[in-house]
Amino acid sequence: MTAVPPRRPIIAGNWKMNGTLPEARKLTQEILQGLRGQTDVDVILCPPFTALSTVGEILKGSPLFLGAQDMHWESSGAFTGEISPVMLKEIGCRFCIIGHSERRAHFGDTDPVIHRKLLAALEQGLNPILCVGETLQQRENGKTWEIIEGQLKAALEGIESDRIARLVTLAYEPVWAIGTGQNATGTQAQEVHGSIRAWLTGRIGKSQAQAIRIQYGGSVKSENAGELLGRPDVDGALVGGASLNAKGFISIVESALQKKEN
Ligand code: 13P
Repeated sequence: MTAVPPRRPIIAGNWKMNGTLPEARKLTQEILQGLRGQTDVDVILCPPFTALSTVGEILKGSPLFLGAQDMHWESSGAFTGEISPVMLKEIGCRFCIIGHSERRAHFGDTDPVIHRKLLAALEQGLNPILCVGETLQQRENGKTWEIIEGQLKAALEGIESDRIARLVTLAYEPVWAIGTGQNATGTQAQEVHGSIRAWLTGRIGKSQAQAIRIQYGGSVKSENAGELLGRPDVDGALVGGASLNAKGFISIVESALQKKEN
Protein backbone atom coordinates (compact mmCIF):
# COMPACT_ATOMS: atom_id res chain seq x y z
CA MET A 1 0.00 0.00 0.00
CA THR A 2 1.38 3.42 -0.87
CA ALA A 3 1.25 6.12 1.76
CA VAL A 4 -1.07 9.02 0.99
CA PRO A 5 0.73 12.37 1.20
CA PRO A 6 -0.81 14.72 3.76
CA ARG A 7 -3.18 17.34 2.39
CA ARG A 8 -1.89 20.88 2.40
CA PRO A 9 -4.12 23.11 4.56
CA ILE A 10 -6.06 25.77 2.66
CA ILE A 11 -7.47 28.93 4.22
CA ALA A 12 -9.52 31.32 2.12
CA GLY A 13 -10.93 34.69 3.07
CA ASN A 14 -14.28 35.43 1.43
CA TRP A 15 -14.67 39.17 1.85
CA LYS A 16 -18.17 39.10 0.34
CA MET A 17 -19.44 42.61 -0.52
CA ASN A 18 -16.91 44.36 1.70
CA GLY A 19 -13.84 46.44 0.99
CA THR A 20 -13.42 49.81 -0.64
CA LEU A 21 -10.06 50.11 -2.40
CA PRO A 22 -8.28 51.80 0.54
CA GLU A 23 -9.70 49.15 2.90
CA ALA A 24 -8.73 46.33 0.55
CA ARG A 25 -5.18 47.68 0.22
CA LYS A 26 -4.74 48.04 3.95
CA LEU A 27 -6.14 44.61 4.79
CA THR A 28 -4.05 42.87 2.12
CA GLN A 29 -0.85 44.58 3.25
CA GLU A 30 -1.50 43.74 6.89
CA ILE A 31 -2.20 40.08 6.08
CA LEU A 32 0.88 39.82 3.91
CA GLN A 33 3.12 41.34 6.57
CA GLY A 34 1.58 39.24 9.32
CA LEU A 35 2.12 35.99 7.44
CA ARG A 36 5.78 36.79 6.74
CA GLY A 37 6.05 34.67 3.62
CA GLN A 38 4.92 31.39 5.17
CA THR A 39 4.41 28.73 2.53
CA ASP A 40 3.05 25.72 4.43
CA VAL A 41 -0.60 26.70 4.10
CA ASP A 42 -2.35 27.82 0.92
CA VAL A 43 -3.84 31.22 1.68
CA ILE A 44 -6.36 32.76 -0.72
CA LEU A 45 -7.90 36.22 -0.62
CA CYS A 46 -11.26 36.62 -2.36
CA PRO A 47 -12.11 40.34 -2.46
CA PRO A 48 -15.06 41.77 -4.40
CA PHE A 49 -14.55 42.09 -8.17
CA THR A 50 -13.73 45.80 -7.94
CA ALA A 51 -10.75 45.13 -5.66
CA LEU A 52 -9.35 42.08 -7.46
CA SER A 53 -6.71 43.92 -9.45
CA THR A 54 -5.66 46.10 -6.51
CA VAL A 55 -5.28 43.09 -4.21
CA GLY A 56 -3.67 41.09 -7.02
CA GLU A 57 -1.00 43.76 -7.51
CA ILE A 58 -0.09 43.67 -3.83
CA LEU A 59 0.01 39.86 -3.77
CA LYS A 60 2.31 39.63 -6.80
CA GLY A 61 5.48 37.74 -5.94
CA SER A 62 4.01 36.52 -2.63
CA PRO A 63 2.90 32.95 -1.87
CA LEU A 64 -0.72 34.06 -1.39
CA PHE A 65 -3.34 33.44 -4.06
CA LEU A 66 -6.05 35.63 -5.49
CA GLY A 67 -9.58 34.25 -5.74
CA ALA A 68 -12.95 35.47 -6.99
CA GLN A 69 -16.30 34.98 -5.28
CA ASP A 70 -18.30 33.97 -8.35
CA MET A 71 -18.17 33.93 -12.15
CA HIS A 72 -20.34 33.43 -15.21
CA TRP A 73 -20.00 30.22 -17.23
CA GLU A 74 -19.48 31.85 -20.62
CA SER A 75 -16.17 33.38 -21.73
CA SER A 76 -17.78 36.54 -23.13
CA GLY A 77 -21.06 37.81 -24.52
CA ALA A 78 -24.28 39.68 -23.79
CA PHE A 79 -24.52 39.02 -20.06
CA THR A 80 -24.89 42.45 -18.49
CA GLY A 81 -23.28 42.72 -15.10
CA GLU A 82 -21.43 39.42 -15.29
CA ILE A 83 -17.71 38.55 -15.13
CA SER A 84 -16.22 35.66 -17.08
CA PRO A 85 -13.58 33.13 -16.01
CA VAL A 86 -11.31 34.40 -18.79
CA MET A 87 -11.41 37.86 -17.23
CA LEU A 88 -10.66 36.42 -13.80
CA LYS A 89 -7.70 34.44 -15.11
CA GLU A 90 -6.38 37.51 -16.87
CA ILE A 91 -6.43 39.53 -13.68
CA GLY A 92 -4.45 36.87 -11.82
CA CYS A 93 -7.11 34.75 -10.10
CA ARG A 94 -6.16 31.16 -9.39
CA PHE A 95 -9.32 30.24 -7.48
CA CYS A 96 -13.03 30.97 -7.73
CA ILE A 97 -15.73 30.23 -5.16
CA ILE A 98 -18.66 28.50 -6.84
CA GLY A 99 -22.09 27.69 -5.42
CA HIS A 100 -21.87 29.76 -2.26
CA SER A 101 -25.14 29.49 -0.35
CA GLU A 102 -25.71 33.23 -0.67
CA ARG A 103 -25.57 32.82 -4.47
CA ARG A 104 -27.86 29.79 -4.25
CA ALA A 105 -30.35 31.64 -2.03
CA HIS A 106 -30.43 35.12 -3.59
CA PHE A 107 -29.05 34.98 -7.14
CA GLY A 108 -30.55 31.95 -8.81
CA ASP A 109 -27.52 29.68 -8.62
CA THR A 110 -29.32 26.37 -8.96
CA ASP A 111 -27.52 23.03 -9.15
CA PRO A 112 -27.44 23.05 -12.99
CA VAL A 113 -26.06 26.62 -13.00
CA ILE A 114 -23.38 25.64 -10.51
CA HIS A 115 -22.45 22.64 -12.65
CA ARG A 116 -22.00 24.88 -15.69
CA LYS A 117 -19.88 27.32 -13.72
CA LEU A 118 -17.73 24.52 -12.34
CA LEU A 119 -17.14 23.10 -15.81
CA ALA A 120 -16.26 26.55 -17.16
CA ALA A 121 -13.80 27.19 -14.32
CA LEU A 122 -12.05 23.89 -15.09
CA GLU A 123 -12.00 24.65 -18.81
CA GLN A 124 -10.34 28.00 -18.16
CA GLY A 125 -7.85 26.66 -15.64
CA LEU A 126 -9.36 28.23 -12.55
CA ASN A 127 -9.48 26.14 -9.37
CA PRO A 128 -13.08 26.01 -8.15
CA ILE A 129 -13.94 26.05 -4.47
CA LEU A 130 -17.28 24.29 -4.57
CA CYS A 131 -19.57 25.11 -1.64
CA VAL A 132 -22.21 22.75 -0.32
CA GLY A 133 -24.33 22.88 2.81
CA GLU A 134 -27.74 22.40 4.37
CA THR A 135 -30.15 24.88 5.95
CA LEU A 136 -31.21 24.60 9.58
CA GLN A 137 -34.59 23.23 8.58
CA GLN A 138 -33.00 20.58 6.40
CA ARG A 139 -30.72 19.58 9.28
CA GLU A 140 -33.61 19.43 11.73
CA ASN A 141 -35.54 17.26 9.29
CA GLY A 142 -32.64 14.81 9.14
CA LYS A 143 -31.91 15.69 5.53
CA THR A 144 -28.35 17.00 5.87
CA TRP A 145 -26.64 14.24 3.94
CA GLU A 146 -29.37 13.95 1.30
CA ILE A 147 -28.96 17.66 0.49
CA ILE A 148 -25.18 17.61 0.40
CA GLU A 149 -25.03 14.46 -1.68
CA GLY A 150 -27.49 15.98 -4.16
CA GLN A 151 -25.40 19.14 -4.44
CA LEU A 152 -22.17 17.17 -4.93
CA LYS A 153 -23.69 14.83 -7.51
CA ALA A 154 -25.17 17.67 -9.54
CA ALA A 155 -22.08 19.87 -9.49
CA LEU A 156 -19.58 17.14 -10.32
CA GLU A 157 -21.70 15.19 -12.79
CA GLY A 158 -19.68 13.73 -15.65
CA ILE A 159 -16.39 15.30 -14.58
CA GLU A 160 -13.39 12.96 -14.74
CA SER A 161 -11.98 11.73 -11.43
CA ASP A 162 -8.52 12.97 -12.17
CA ARG A 163 -9.72 16.52 -12.86
CA ILE A 164 -11.75 16.59 -9.68
CA ALA A 165 -8.82 15.35 -7.61
CA ARG A 166 -6.31 17.77 -9.09
CA LEU A 167 -8.36 20.93 -9.32
CA VAL A 168 -11.41 21.03 -7.10
CA THR A 169 -11.52 22.14 -3.48
CA LEU A 170 -14.72 21.53 -1.55
CA ALA A 171 -16.18 23.70 1.18
CA TYR A 172 -18.79 22.45 3.61
CA GLU A 173 -20.70 25.51 4.71
CA PRO A 174 -23.80 24.78 6.78
CA VAL A 175 -26.16 27.66 5.97
CA TRP A 176 -27.22 27.98 9.61
CA ALA A 177 -23.63 28.64 10.64
CA ILE A 178 -22.91 31.42 8.12
CA GLY A 179 -22.71 34.85 9.67
CA THR A 180 -24.62 33.68 12.75
CA GLY A 181 -21.78 33.23 15.22
CA GLN A 182 -23.07 29.69 15.67
CA ASN A 183 -20.36 27.51 14.13
CA ALA A 184 -20.71 23.78 13.67
CA THR A 185 -18.84 21.90 16.39
CA GLY A 186 -15.73 20.01 15.41
CA THR A 187 -17.74 16.80 15.73
CA GLN A 188 -20.55 18.05 13.49
CA ALA A 189 -18.08 19.27 10.88
CA GLN A 190 -16.07 16.05 10.93
CA GLU A 191 -19.24 13.98 10.54
CA VAL A 192 -20.15 15.74 7.29
CA HIS A 193 -16.56 16.02 6.01
CA GLY A 194 -16.08 12.29 6.66
CA SER A 195 -19.27 11.52 4.72
CA ILE A 196 -18.13 13.73 1.86
CA ARG A 197 -14.79 11.93 1.73
CA ALA A 198 -16.54 8.54 1.80
CA TRP A 199 -18.81 9.66 -1.05
CA LEU A 200 -15.80 10.90 -3.01
CA THR A 201 -14.11 7.55 -2.48
CA GLY A 202 -17.04 5.87 -4.20
CA ARG A 203 -17.11 8.46 -6.96
CA ILE A 204 -13.42 8.87 -7.81
CA GLY A 205 -11.52 6.18 -5.89
CA LYS A 206 -9.67 6.13 -2.60
CA SER A 207 -6.35 7.75 -3.43
CA GLN A 208 -7.98 10.54 -5.41
CA ALA A 209 -10.52 11.15 -2.65
CA GLN A 210 -7.70 11.35 -0.11
CA ALA A 211 -6.07 14.12 -2.15
CA ILE A 212 -9.10 16.44 -2.12
CA ARG A 213 -9.18 19.24 0.37
CA ILE A 214 -12.41 19.96 2.20
CA GLN A 215 -12.74 23.33 3.91
CA TYR A 216 -15.22 24.14 6.63
CA GLY A 217 -17.00 27.51 6.53
CA GLY A 218 -19.49 29.14 8.87
CA SER A 219 -18.54 31.47 11.74
CA VAL A 220 -14.90 30.37 11.76
CA LYS A 221 -12.84 32.66 13.99
CA SER A 222 -9.55 32.50 15.86
CA GLU A 223 -11.30 31.07 18.94
CA ASN A 224 -12.78 28.01 17.20
CA ALA A 225 -10.33 27.44 14.32
CA GLY A 226 -8.10 25.06 16.31
CA GLU A 227 -11.03 22.85 17.31
CA LEU A 228 -12.37 22.66 13.75
CA LEU A 229 -9.04 22.30 11.97
CA GLY A 230 -7.97 19.63 14.45
CA ARG A 231 -10.42 17.18 12.85
CA PRO A 232 -8.95 14.67 10.41
CA ASP A 233 -11.10 15.57 7.40
CA VAL A 234 -11.23 19.33 7.96
CA ASP A 235 -8.42 20.51 5.69
CA GLY A 236 -8.97 24.22 5.88
CA ALA A 237 -11.45 27.03 6.34
CA LEU A 238 -13.50 29.36 4.18
CA VAL A 239 -13.72 32.42 6.36
CA GLY A 240 -16.23 35.24 5.96
CA GLY A 241 -16.53 37.93 8.63
CA ALA A 242 -13.30 37.06 10.45
CA SER A 243 -11.29 37.41 7.23
CA LEU A 244 -11.92 41.16 7.28
CA ASN A 245 -9.64 41.55 10.26
CA ALA A 246 -5.97 40.87 9.57
CA LYS A 247 -5.10 39.72 13.08
CA GLY A 248 -8.03 37.33 13.30
CA PHE A 249 -7.42 35.92 9.84
CA ILE A 250 -3.70 35.41 10.51
CA SER A 251 -4.45 33.56 13.69
CA ILE A 252 -6.74 31.19 11.73
CA VAL A 253 -3.87 30.56 9.30
CA GLU A 254 -1.64 29.85 12.30
CA SER A 255 -4.12 27.23 13.54
CA ALA A 256 -3.86 25.59 10.13
CA LEU A 257 -0.06 25.62 10.41
CA GLN A 258 -0.34 23.74 13.67
CA LYS A 259 -2.50 21.15 11.98
CA LYS A 260 0.28 20.61 9.48
CA GLU A 261 2.88 20.25 12.22
CA ASN A 262 0.88 17.70 14.22
P1 13P B 1 -18.87 33.77 8.11
O1 13P B 1 -17.46 33.33 8.43
O2 13P B 1 -19.05 35.23 8.19
O3 13P B 1 -19.87 32.98 8.89
O4 13P B 1 -19.12 33.41 6.57
C1 13P B 1 -18.79 32.14 6.10
C2 13P B 1 -18.87 32.13 4.64
O5 13P B 1 -19.93 32.25 4.06
C3 13P B 1 -17.61 32.00 3.88
O6 13P B 1 -17.83 31.76 2.54
